[in-house]
Amino acid sequence: KKKVILDCDPGHDDAVAILLAGIAEEIELLGIIAVAGNSYLKNTARNALVLTEMAKLDIPVFAGSDKPLLRDQIVAPNIHGESGLEGANLPEPTKKLENKNYLEFIAENVYSNPNEITLVAVGPLTNIAKFALNYPDLVPLVKELVIMGGGIKFGNTTPRAEFNIYADPEAAQIVFNAGFNLTVFPLDVTHQAKIYMDEIKEMQKFESEIVSKMGMLLEFFHQTYFDIFKIEGAPLHDPCTIAYLIKPEIFEFEEYYAQVETKGELTYGETVVDYWHFKEPNSRWALKVDREEFIKILFDNLKKYN
Ligand code: BDR
Ligand code: CA
Repeated sequence: KKKVILDCDPGHDDAVAILLAGIAEEIELLGIIAVAGNSYLKNTARNALVLTEMAKLDIPVFAGSDKPLLRDQIVAPNIHGESGLEGANLPEPTKKLENKNYLEFIAENVYSNPNEITLVAVGPLTNIAKFALNYPDLVPLVKELVIMGGGIKFGNTTPRAEFNIYADPEAAQIVFNAGFNLTVFPLDVTHQAKIYMDEIKEMQKFESEIVSKMGMLLEFFHQTYFDIFKIEGAPLHDPCTIAYLIKPEIFEFEEYYAQVETKGELTYGETVVDYWHFKEPNSRWALKVDREEFIKILFDNLKKYN
């Protein structure tokens, strides 16, 4: 089993990633860290708590950063609603956040399990940048850092910038240069990992309360994607990272050197990817996914909640 720590900002697609990582037999989910992103930290932390509680996942939840490193905070109510998770009336959690500091939690796990811990980050990279700044000696002991973020051909928050990177570009730039064994799931691949309305309706029929509620949540998410981007089918960005840990063969990759633009007027928050390999690669980029296989992995696992 892969030992995983999931850093996220739930968030609809984050919620799917939590449910998938929490139940997949290939994964041992050690803990969840919330970060401000899709909504404010109090909301993303509460959402992580209620999701794990409803899914009966006995996994500790930590509160991470409530602000980006330097830039003014942005959130995404246009996509995820004010609460970060609109579309089903989820109850208030009774589960509580851990008291321990999230950086110590990551550090202790990496230190005691060298080359065994996979960090997955599917929100702004604030927490991961702080980890790299505070524990540079532990970075090479992380087995792999898998992120959802960036775009090679297009952005989704500005024409050139993807939300997770744009929400904290300075943090992302630190992370790209920290020396992680880094695997990236950009918009180029996550927009192939779509879930369609008939599949969402099928999810709503599941016996498990949390999975059927997830179906309701995804209907909301599907609608916001249609309203804003005029596309049919909701991209399941964040669950790509988890599907990769379950079955890497369904993805195709290319290695690139990439940096994050932190100064550009039109390109602030863009992941600038060295397409022609002028420089030595610093990251592995997923470019293609077999959508049918991806959806099969998702449904096969969600069925286990029944
Ligand atoms: C990313 O931004 C968030 O809205 C999603 O949860 C995902 O992590 C996609 O750009
Ligand atoms: Ca996210």
